[in-house]
Amino acid sequence: MRIGILNSGGDCPGLNAVIHGVVGAADQLGWEVIGFRDGFEGLLPPGDYSILKPQDTIGILKLGGTILGTTNKGHFAAKLGLGEVAEVPPEIVAKAKRTMDRLGIRALIIVGGDGSLTTGLQLFREGWPIVGVPKTIDNDLSATAMTFGFNSAVETVVDGLDRLQTTADSHKRVMVLEVMGRHSGWIALWGGIAGGANVILLPEIPFSLEKVAAFIKHRDAQGHHSTLVVVAEGASMPDGDLVTRDANTGGEIRLGGIGETVANQLQLLTAKETRACTLGHLQRGGAPTSLDRILAMRFGVMAVKLAAEGAFGRMVSYQAYHVDSVPIEEAVHQLRLVEPDSELVLAAKAVGICLGD
Ligand code: F6P
Repeated sequence: MRIGILNSGGDCPGLNAVIHGVVGAADQLGWEVIGFRDGFEGLLPPGDYSILKPQDTIGILKLGGTILGTTNKGHFAAKLGLGEVAEVPPEIVAKAKRTMDRLGIRALIIVGGDGSLTTGLQLFREGWPIVGVPKTIDNDLSATAMTFGFNSAVETVVDGLDRLQTTADSHKRVMVLEVMGRHSGWIALWGGIAGGANVILLPEIPFSLEKVAAFIKHRDAQGHHSTLVVVAEGASMPDGDLVTRDANTGGEIRLGGIGETVANQLQLLTAKETRACTLGHLQRGGAPTSLDRILAMRFGVMAVKLAAEGAFGRMVSYQAYHVDSVPIEEAVHQLRLVEPDSELVLAAKAVGICLGD
């Protein structure tokens, strides 16, 4: 029995731990694993792949990135923007299928986010033996309580805030840290709370910069002369606009720049020296945390179990401390956003964090 695995979409700490889990579990069954390179692109004839044996995965559990490469562009991109979905053209699917048939792949494990799993769902509906593994640092898939990579990204935010704290304190400044998360505020909320941010601005909670400025001035008057602000890249400015870098990249819009915009406006409103910092891809790079290593490895092992059971069209899912699975069609297009009245948001407010509302 031969199975295939590919990573698709943006990279994420823990991808290699999934590969480690898949190759280890498949080897126990006497199966061979084919790793396709650069996402679905590796399926296009003549095929770009290698056979992954357990000795090829020694030590990769701890490695960031992915040994297989990945892409969020190319012939198979299924998502164009918020809510927009495109079908992969039939001639591309047919070409990829030829590679699957030639190699005798009996199950294809797709490790990807919402866009890649949407492609996986299309292929499953066309008869492919697909098993999905959710992946995103944004933690915004509703069908799983947590995705691997999220915890690693949060740790990077916490480390960034710890560093910004000392320079903010030394200069009595306001420091604004822009973090990833696309249209969800999970990284900002978790990273902000754990990193001791005083203000957290989320896509899910409309904010007023006047209220944030009043909060900062009040802190100043109380003798707290520095303030840490975390802003999610996907938060909307009070006029309702997203801040984007380049809307014309052929894929999803590239968010970014809100940190600078918020910092400039807060400096005007508070007359306090304010600086902006963008963490960017530092949140995606580097070694996964121990939690992500274990979660990702378990996801890989579960993916092989699903393949062994012939449970195709399902996606591995983490619920209530257990790794299980759900139908992919229930998992895609269901973003999990921060609920403004959730216990976590109320807890943040209870300890005095300003959310700008
Ligand atoms: O979805 C993961 C993510 O890191 C988002 O948080 C971010 O907006 C986006 O990908 C960045 O994508 P790219 O690497 O293509 O710039």
